[in-house]
Amino acid sequence: MKILITAGPTREPIDPVRFLSNRSSGRMGYALAHAFVKQQHQVLLISGPTSLDVPHHVDYLPVESAQDMHDAVAHALPRVDIAIFCAAVADYTPVEVATQKIKKSDEFITITLKKTIDILGSARSVHGFTGYLVGFAAETEDLETNARTKLLAKKCDMIIANDVSQSSIGFDSHENEVLIVEAEENTKLPRDSKEHLAHHLAAIILKRFDRKRGGVS
Ligand code: PMT
Repeated sequence: MKILITAGPTREPIDPVRFLSNRSSGRMGYALAHAFVKQQHQVLLISGPTSLDVPHHVDYLPVESAQDMHDAVAHALPRVDIAIFCAAVADYTPVEVATQKIKKSDEFITITLKKTIDILGSARSVHGFTGYLVGFAAETEDLETNARTKLLAKKCDMIIANDVSQSSIGFDSHENEVLIVEAEENTKLPRDSKEHLAHHLAAIILKRFDRKRGGVS
């Protein structure tokens, strides 16, 4: 199977030395890439900047901004069976990028932001992806309701929701705890290392992919 995974944060430039970003370490996405490669699947990992080693035998495409990630994903989507969007993509990016380093002069400055392109949301509606589509949902409240809204709005087969209000799971932690939300059911996977969870998630995703293709579930 050919599997695309996005991971890590994006960096939205403000000037030549500054950017907006978030606390995603990339661990969850890299653990998923490792789990699928271990089962002999072909993985393309499109990743924002992280300090992690790239798992062996993974095709690796480093990107910086949300727009870069979108362009790389759009190019790869027609060639993959399963696409998993684990990256913490910035929702907003500066309207203007200063060409020179912004000087410290005024007491207050204003940076106007505009919405970034919704990479997951455009997979089916713009790029016509027909494979198995998995999104993540990083939520601080109403985990199941918000995940289910994303499942429908972005035409996903599965949303993997994590509660990012807890610092010991989710962003930049070694463990996670997720609620898998699908059209007909929810499945809770208890707290575990991201590596162990990734193996469980990979097994479930492959099983559901087979079922969607008309195979045995
Ligand atoms: O990297 P780690 O430190 O291991 O942390 C893992 C994680 C917490 C980042 C990961 O488990 C996770 O939750 N990733 C999704 C983070 C996120 O941006 O969630 P969201 O609810 O804001 O976005 C929903 C979905 O849309 C996600 O699949 C996201 O990749 C995607 N998205 C969001 C914005 C955008 N412009 N384009 C997108 O494709």
